[in-house]
Amino acid sequence: MTGKVKIGIVGSRFQADCIATSVKAMPEEAEVVAVASPSPGNAETFARRHGIAAFHSDYREMLRDPAIELVSITAPNRLHAQITIDAARAGKHVVCEKPLCITLEEADAMIDACTKAGVLLLYAEELFFAPKYVKAKQMADEGAFGRVHLVKQSEKHSGPHSDWFWDVDQSGGGALMDLGCHGIAFCWWFLGKPKVKSVYAQLSTQVNSARTQGDDEAITVIEFETGAIGIVENSWNRPGGMDDSVEVFGDKGQTYADMLMGNALPTYSDVGFGYAVEKAGSTRGWTWPVFEEHWNYGFPQEMRHFARCVRGKEVPVSDGHTGRVVQEVLYAAYASAGLGRKIMLPFRPKGIKKPIDLWKNPKLAEAAL
Ligand SMILES: NC(=O)c1ccc[n+]([C@@H]2O[C@H](COP(=O)([O-])OP(=O)(O)OC[C@H]3O[C@@H](n4cnc5c(N)ncnc54)[C@H](O)[C@@H]3O)[C@@H](O)[C@H]2O)c1
Repeated sequence: MTGKVKIGIVGSRFQADCIATSVKAMPEEAEVVAVASPSPGNAETFARRHGIAAFHSDYREMLRDPAIELVSITAPNRLHAQITIDAARAGKHVVCEKPLCITLEEADAMIDACTKAGVLLLYAEELFFAPKYVKAKQMADEGAFGRVHLVKQSEKHSGPHSDWFWDVDQSGGGALMDLGCHGIAFCWWFLGKPKVKSVYAQLSTQVNSARTQGDDEAITVIEFETGAIGIVENSWNRPGGMDDSVEVFGDKGQTYADMLMGNALPTYSDVGFGYAVEKAGSTRGWTWPVFEEHWNYGFPQEMRHFARCVRGKEVPVSDGHTGRVVQEVLYAAYASAGLGRKIMLPFRPKGIKKPIDLWKNPKLAEAAL
């Protein structure tokens, strides 16, 4: 096939908006031709807002459209596996939002379904495309910092916008699952995708225990087989807008990359204005409004790369295997917090319903060692 890759989006809210806007920002390789979302009227409103021709209330109906080549899944975590498997069976390539799924068994089933169907399973980790972070990796790969022995990635904000994130049965876990999946993938990718040797995590629910069983503060230490260390810090308790940053240390140098505030306009306003940055509660007083927000994250570049992978022009830098590596580290991190000790990998407990159970019920983690 030639021409623009035709995309169908599943979901019509936060991340769906990001994907539709990002595809339009780099339109030469792909276009969104359909959207599916179950709440009455939502898919239609979304389609009109983004100039998309077709809309459906059931994603399975959208999968029957032979024109669609690639399905972008922006539905809640608990639905990622089933939608991926259904899309693969319908012969569609898949872009799955993070985290890949809830369980390791689901990750295996998703990879298996896509392999059998001969379609790509692309894992949407936009940090691999964030221009500032890509620059940091280019310098590291060039040797600018000597041997890199420590990489830190933090993602912190004031808490998710939709109720399902707070319900661990639907999300699988708290801030670690929601935000830590980015940092785990980032450290692994930045260091050249080495094997993970061990994981240690400190988790707690400091502020939101009335609202969630999930962790709202998380610190994860990942030891790689090369000896390098990754530190991932996540929070759902940081008002003032999204904070996404990276620090890289080697024996010959270091670099610091603050993706949003570091690319913002330090601004003071008595009266406020429309929008500063994701999850900023107010625009009065001092704020850090970011420009080209999607571009700074790397979303348009990510979707362009995925479309080029569908056309065989590029090889995926993030796929089902990436998502599965992250999933195993998430399991190990929750188990570590439950047992209060380091977990050695491989760590592949079977029959766990969701990663956070390994923290809440340490016996499950103990049994898996
Ligand atoms: N890459 C990133 O930085 C990033 C950012 C935000 C969200 N995400 C991920 O994207 C996914 C969606 O998150 P969100 O913030 O858009 O959530 P959201 O609550 O804003 O939107 C979820 C959407 O899924 C739809 N949905 C629910 N059940 C469905 C079903 N059965 N079939 C089809 N659609 C269904 C909802 O109607 C809604 O439109 C999550 O997995 C989340 O982790 C990724």
